[in-house]
Amino acid sequence: MSLKTEIDTTRLPAHVAVIMDGNGRWAKQQGQMRVFGHKNGVNSVREVSEAAAELGIQVLTLYAFSTENWNRPHEEVEALMELLVHTIHAETETLMKNDIRLETIGDTQSLPPSCQRELAEAIQKTSGNKRMALVLALSYSSRWEIVEAARRLAKLTQAGELKPEDINADVFGRQLTTSRYPDPELLIRTSGELRVSNFLLWQIAYAEFYFTETLWPDFDREEFYKAILDYQNRERRFGKTSDQLLKSADSTQP
Ligand code: FPP
Repeated sequence: MSLKTEIDTTRLPAHVAVIMDGNGRWAKQQGQMRVFGHKNGVNSVREVSEAAAELGIQVLTLYAFSTENWNRPHEEVEALMELLVHTIHAETETLMKNDIRLETIGDTQSLPPSCQRELAEAIQKTSGNKRMALVLALSYSSRWEIVEAARRLAKLTQAGELKPEDINADVFGRQLTTSRYPDPELLIRTSGELRVSNFLLWQIAYAEFYFTETLWPDFDREEFYKAILDYQNRERRFGKTSDQLLKSADSTQP
């Protein structure tokens, strides 16, 4: 039986972020080139996106290409960009069918023009979809984003539109590329690596982390449900004590 039946849909994380890792190792295990792993990773992107939307998750952010990934061998970067263009083109109809809108975060202007065009078209076409936002982090790194936000605040201050003493966490957060989303409550990383790799550093301040040995191309619906169930079995305290949480839960009882 599917683990889906065990999930409490009234206690879902509104935003799930995923570091998709292990495509290269998966391909190597099959005696194939790395790009074979990325191609199979697309199936997991589709499965997890559909599973998340069906459950009622509002935002799913996938780390598809980091700023550091530009340093990979030229052929791999080229293959990833081609895969991205091809996948977005081929999957737009599925996004429409599932009522999912495509959005991006990151320095997308550094992507090849064909990629930018395909993305712009899919973003525009899916913009009215309501069920879930599928956010691709592309040419993204958290330090890049934080520096950009600081630069924008400095400009506003210089122009006299903002006083330094008015800068607080809310004002800062509004300058980030994720300002329209709630912070992720769950961060998943596949392939057994225990790192955050410059991903959403500001936004994951209170996120629960879920690490699994499963390589991304093997991460299917059931693996995703497992991560959600693990999240639901945790106590989220936000700096409070367990007793305080119990008391506030009691006071909301009829
Ligand atoms: C990490 O595995 C994966 C990536 C850098 C790229 C992720 C891309 C995809 C899943 C395919 C395209 C995505 C979309 C959204 C269409 P790795 O190469 O670092 O694996 P390794 O650590 O085993 O070498």
